[in-house]
Amino acid sequence: MTLKESRGYNGRFFGIGLMTFYGFFWLTLLGAILNSGCDSQESSPDSIEAVHAQRQTDLNGAELYELYCSACHNDLMTTNVPNRTADGIFQAILQNLGNDQQGYMGSLMGILETQDIPGAKIELIAEALAKTLDGTEGGKALYRDYCRGCHGELDKGELAKRNKAAIYYGIMSQSQMGFLSLLPDSALAKIEAELTQAVYPEVDMSDGEAVYGYYCAGCHMPLERTTKAKRPLEAIIYATSFNPEMNFISDLSAEAFGLVAGLLESQALDLTLSDGAALYDNLCAGCHRSRLISNKAKRSTEGMVYANDQFLEMGFLSALSTAQLEAIEITLAGIDFTYDASADGPALYDEHCAGCHFELDVSDKPQRNASSIVVAGRVNPEMSFSTGTPATVLSLIETALADSPLPVISDSDGPGLYGAYCSGCHGDLASNDIVDKTEAGIIQKIGSVSSMGFLAPVFQTASATTISLSAALSSP
Ligand code: HEC
Ligand code: HEC
Ligand code: HEC
Ligand code: HEC
Ligand code: HEC
Ligand code: HEC
Repeated sequence: MTLKESRGYNGRFFGIGLMTFYGFFWLTLLGAILNSGCDSQESSPDSIEAVHAQRQTDLNGAELYELYCSACHNDLMTTNVPNRTADGIFQAILQNLGNDQQGYMGSLMGILETQDIPGAKIELIAEALAKTLDGTEGGKALYRDYCRGCHGELDKGELAKRNKAAIYYGIMSQSQMGFLSLLPDSALAKIEAELTQAVYPEVDMSDGEAVYGYYCAGCHMPLERTTKAKRPLEAIIYATSFNPEMNFISDLSAEAFGLVAGLLESQALDLTLSDGAALYDNLCAGCHRSRLISNKAKRSTEGMVYANDQFLEMGFLSALSTAQLEAIEITLAGIDFTYDASADGPALYDEHCAGCHFELDVSDKPQRNASSIVVAGRVNPEMSFSTGTPATVLSLIETALADSPLPVISDSDGPGLYGAYCSGCHGDLASNDIVDKTEAGIIQKIGSVSSMGFLAPVFQTASATTISLSAALSSP
């Protein structure tokens, strides 16, 4: 039974209504209308109903506000709920049903019940409330006027330590907070400053659900519906540093992180999705930016599998099926792989290579040249995204890699030398595709194959290194 059906607008329901929850509102509606100083002195339900209906049809937003809201929220000029959306008002009404001052809430129910929800009348009120937020007050006043209504007093600490990015995330993701996008950045900064001073509420840090509830649920839904199922500890830690919204969480102890990860592990990952875009939005965007500006454009299925194996942060994605990975691959293929024209070599490396080959100064691909990179893209499906990389970009990366040090490997460690210098293009030692395994062959090729040029300093001559490498190749 809908609210409307349960209550109706004929007076006949009134008597029984008294016994019911909604009937209580009916009674209090009466009080509200009388209290609001309305000119009707009639008290029979039928005529009140008529007056009510009359009001519902004729009043403009400002008048509706005056009638239904001003008693608690000041008059329209000085309202403490400026710029609220219809949805926000609707939610506020529902949330405050159990409020002590039910007399007024009853009148709000009246607005709701005669309208489709959230209702044209509430829209009118929202329009009347729409004015630009100037945000010139101090931080405490801003919090009081714009946040306290939903998040409680500042000293309760519901939003302690949240920064501007977190507030902005709330604004973007919570429709009720949408009106706050009108606040200037300077106002958010002042609120941030207040929140920085605020003290966390008492949370039992040995109770995972309590920790999740306070630290995560506000952005990622209650545990039973969490959007972050199966995320391992590493993913959470990575996310706290990658996403500025989550910075305040880095305060947590290792134990607390562990408890949350344990709870997330017990929640099921939604593996029913088959659409690449939806999969990306749910499973990748949080670490690799939103789809249009993804830093993983053009990545292959192999690249994803490699990353799932390699990076603990992504390990939970090994549950995806090949079909799902392929769907994501198709989505990623449609994203422009743009090179930042103003970026220098280190920045380009950082953006496109560091993900698999470590930071520049500890890169496992030091001193490779442009042609090594081209060959690598051809022979390694993980790197197929790099085919078509403009020559200017390759040469900038080549220059950046020129300063990275070669690894230190013992002269006599043939397999180690092979792994560091050859396997990326010629496959594992045991199954390598090198035909001429002699020292002379190796030295000669280094001189003639441009993608192997970087090997010259190490294997130029028939040194101990070349001898042990050749020996390893001959008897892998
Ligand atoms: C009985 C007094 C009362 C009346 C009348 C009333 N409200 Fe509220 N309203 C409250 C209380 C109490 C809260 C809870 C939060 C608080 O303490 O400010 C609240 C919360 C809200 C909130 C959510 C908090 C926020 O800051 O966004 C909005 C929006 C709101 N009211 C709008 C309205 C509108 C619009 C009307 C008229 C249709 C209205 N209220 C009528 C008492 C009232
Ligand atoms: C009309 C109600 C409403 C108002 C007003 C409002 N919020 Fe929210 N906010 C929500 C809801 C609902 C959520 C979702 C999480 C929840 O239910 O607590 C949320 C979530 C957030 C979050 C993310 C959750 C978290 O734990 O960090 C932040 C930050 C936030 N709000 C900050 C603010 C600030 C700052 C203001 C004032 C400038 C504000 N909100 C005003 C309703 C509101
Ligand atoms: C103030 C908002 C906010 C709070 C609170 C928050 N997060 Fe996040 N989190 C984000 C945003 C924004 C992203 C990036 C976009 C996305 O994934 O939704 C993110 C991303 C993540 C990611 C990486 C992306 C992914 O899909 O795996 C994980 C893991 C994560 N959060 C876990 C948590 C956990 C666990 C908590 C509580 C300890 C928490 N978050 C609290 C805002 C928040
Ligand atoms: C919890 C964070 C997290 C989530 C969620 C995540 N990744 Fe990753 N991913 C990483 C980290 C960390 C790396 C290694 C560093 C880097 O490349 O930024 C990485 C690396 C990669 C790489 C290899 C490096 C490269 O540049 O090609 C690919 C491909 C990749 N991710 C694709 C994906 C796809 C596709 C998804 C969604 C199905 C996904 N990731 C979800 C954290 C995450
Ligand atoms: C960046 C990619 C790359 C790396 C790294 C690389 N090579 Fe090569 N190598 C090539 C290419 C390209 C060719 C020429 C085409 C071909 O023969 O497949 C080649 C050819 C050869 C040949 C001649 C063809 C044959 O099979 O006999 C030898 C010998 C060889 N490489 C040995 C090595 C050794 C030993 C290492 C490590 C010290 C190494 N290469 C590292 C790309 C690479
Ligand atoms: C998705 C992961 C991934 C990304 C991103 C990636 N590579 Fe690779 N790359 C590999 C894999 C896997 C191999 C083969 C195994 C190995 O050598 O580690 C490889 C091999 C190479 C090789 C040939 C082997 C060698 O030792 O010389 C070079 C050169 C190379 N990568 C350079 C780069 C550069 C430069 C970038 C950035 C433009 C890049 N890679 C981005 C995964 C990746």
